[in-house]
Amino acid sequence: MSNNLLKGKRGIIFGALDPNSIAWITAERVFEEGGTFVLTNAPVAMRMGQINVLAEKTNSTVIPADATSLQDLENLITKSMEVLGGKLDFVLHSIGMSVNVRKGKLYTDQNYDWTHKGLDVSAMSFHKVMQTLYKNDAMNEWGSIVALSYMAAQRVFPDYNDMADNKAFLESVARSFGYFFGKDKKVRVNTISQSPTPTTAGKGVKGFDGFIKYADKMSPLGNATAMDCANYTITLFSDLTKRVTLQNLYNDGGFSNMGVSDGIMDIIEKS
Ligand SMILES: NC(=O)c1ccc[n+]([C@@H]2O[C@H](COP(=O)([O-])OP(=O)(O)OC[C@H]3O[C@@H](n4cnc5c(N)ncnc54)[C@H](O)[C@@H]3O)[C@@H](O)[C@H]2O)c1
Repeated sequence: MSNNLLKGKRGIIFGALDPNSIAWITAERVFEEGGTFVLTNAPVAMRMGQINVLAEKTNSTVIPADATSLQDLENLITKSMEVLGGKLDFVLHSIGMSVNVRKGKLYTDQNYDWTHKGLDVSAMSFHKVMQTLYKNDAMNEWGSIVALSYMAAQRVFPDYNDMADNKAFLESVARSFGYFFGKDKKVRVNTISQSPTPTTAGKGVKGFDGFIKYADKMSPLGNATAMDCANYTITLFSDLTKRVTLQNLYNDGGFSNMGVSDGIMDIIEKS
């Protein structure tokens, strides 16, 4: 269903790896709502080739960029403005990766080279993306920048490991850079804190199956899906949310304000 909410708007979407990716589903929805965009991902993710299917479906161009490389980001942003024919109205940062999580290193036994790498990819990259956009004056006034987060930034989820710290950093960068982007360029910056979602990154977290079921039982509306996240992002890219900025917005079926639910109590009482 389309309401043409993004008609005439141009942007960049980071992080569509496969059809389960939140960025993939968001790109499909942005296209339906009339937006045009460049798709980007790390050169290594390109090798899987799936992003070209999405590009064809959404009439978009693919420009590879490692989001930790300022040179790649500079190239991506200048080329995107050329391809799209002007400055940008929206940017989605949908990137996350922890080497410690991938390799099963516990939070209490970090390999700090991996911790640095994960921080750079998952959080510092958001600063790098925004700094490159800012310095190139690449955003139109009333544009919107969104990154995806998770509630382990506020509360303890032991197996989320160093990604919890990365998300806390990411949310802080959204506020700090959002101030300058708002004041100097009239651009809004927000993070969406999304429910656990079965994607490549999500399923990489130890105990993910338990995690997602628990969150679903705790949330009065159940877990938000990738499609719910895409739809929420559309509203944040649209002109309907022009003065929403510096926020971490929960898209989680109510999970973040729950203490306990009947569904969880039933299970505990039976055990
Ligand atoms: N899946 C969940 O449960 C969940 C919940 C809350 C938030 N999130 C967040 O949503 C975002 C998207 O993740 P997803 O769940 O769609 O998984 P995903 O695995 O589909 O997407 C992660 C993306 O990050 C990209 N990436 C990794 N390193 C990169 C680099 N150096 N440069 C550019 N891109 C790079 C990957 O190629 C991939 O496309 C992430 O920030 C993730 O932390 C996910």
